[in-house]
Amino acid sequence: MTHTNERLRWVIGNWKQNKLRFEARELAEAVAQGRASAVGAAEDRVRVGIAPTFLCLDLAVPFAPPGDALWLFAQNVGAQDFGAFTGEIGPTMLLDAGVNGAIIGHSERREHFWETDEDIERKLRCALAAGLQVVLCIGEPLEIREAEQHETFVISQLSTAFFNIPPEHITERLVLAYEPIWAIGTGKTATPAEASAMHHAIRTWMGETFGANGRDRSILYGGSVKPANAAALLAAPDIDGFLVGGASLDAASFLDIVRTAAGG
Ligand code: 13P
Repeated sequence: MTHTNERLRWVIGNWKQNKLRFEARELAEAVAQGRASAVGAAEDRVRVGIAPTFLCLDLAVPFAPPGDALWLFAQNVGAQDFGAFTGEIGPTMLLDAGVNGAIIGHSERREHFWETDEDIERKLRCALAAGLQVVLCIGEPLEIREAEQHETFVISQLSTAFFNIPPEHITERLVLAYEPIWAIGTGKTATPAEASAMHHAIRTWMGETFGANGRDRSILYGGSVKPANAAALLAAPDIDGFLVGGASLDAASFLDIVRTAAGG
């Protein structure tokens, strides 16, 4: 192991709106088959997840049996468990289907589907109360970065998202992902120093707000992560793994990133 802190590392592939069912099944199987050798001796420190579309989650369930081997995430989740909310899927339904967790607040949901910080707060509260594993995404657009307001912006996203979250729900079931919007799908990665500074600000705020439980949460980086840049990003002290988009659509490149996160 090359990393020195005690936090769990996560590498999660966000497949977004990609893959038909036969392709999703093949990719889930390839990731599941390659995972153990990519993780190697770091089994207790590195968790690997995939986030297929809702329609393909059931295909991946057999490759993600109970236990820590492969974690299965939805890309979104409703803000209510049950009821008259046409088109929605709640956290308890995901758990019932064999899904471990959900990504909440991805910038593509905020940008293209107008999800607000308040919507995300309701989803986060409902998911954590139901016992779902959560990856909460935060991150700033380019104009905010250029105006050097990025830390203020991200801390404001956090303070709204956590406004009503009971402190006892701040546990290992919560993972954060910093994804600067200008780095998503653009080939432009935040430098390790830029990402690390933001992760440090996020960790400091979580610590001030929730004490040690907040401070010790894993914080992932997302935005054009590739096998070629993963090691440099992971060398930064506050980066605990990755939420990977494009490079997770190919099993070999995703598993290369997992191997790097496992220290090999
Ligand atoms: P890319 O890795 O394709 O930039 O996507 C990042 C992302 O949005 C993961 O959630």
